[in-house]
Amino acid sequence: MSNVPHAPGSGSGSAADAATPPSPPSPPSPPSPAFAARVEPLGSSFPALPTQTLLEAALLAGVQLPSSCRNGTCRTCLCRLSAGRIAYRIEWPGVSYDERDEGYILPCVAYPESDVVIEAPLARLPDASQA
Ligand code: FES
Repeated sequence: MSNVPHAPGSGSGSAADAATPPSPPSPPSPPSPAFAARVEPLGSSFPALPTQTLLEAALLAGVQLPSSCRNGTCRTCLCRLSAGRIAYRIEWPGVSYDERDEGYILPCVAYPESDVVIEAPLARLPDASQA
């Protein structure tokens, strides 16, 4: 009986290891897809992430919506949601049940859950200096 030692490892050694492609590093999780928000009658559209309020998204895109407190109490930003869905993360945004039923929202505390269209007659673009 002869005990022949086996080579360590399996297969054909380093040639097999070299043929195995290294696995790529896992990519970071993709950012949340942006919804499309449109402001009427201005006619401007901007991307709105589900993680940002409609007011924040508008301002980042250069669309100026009326605002003051930015915490859902002063109602300066009150406007009408004519299409799409939003959600609030505060318990009592300053909109009555009747106003909600009529589609009024507070974009400073409203997070988009779909593409949206808001009616904000006082919205403007900063460079819209048409005299
Ligand atoms: S800015 Fe005050 S309620 Fe929206």
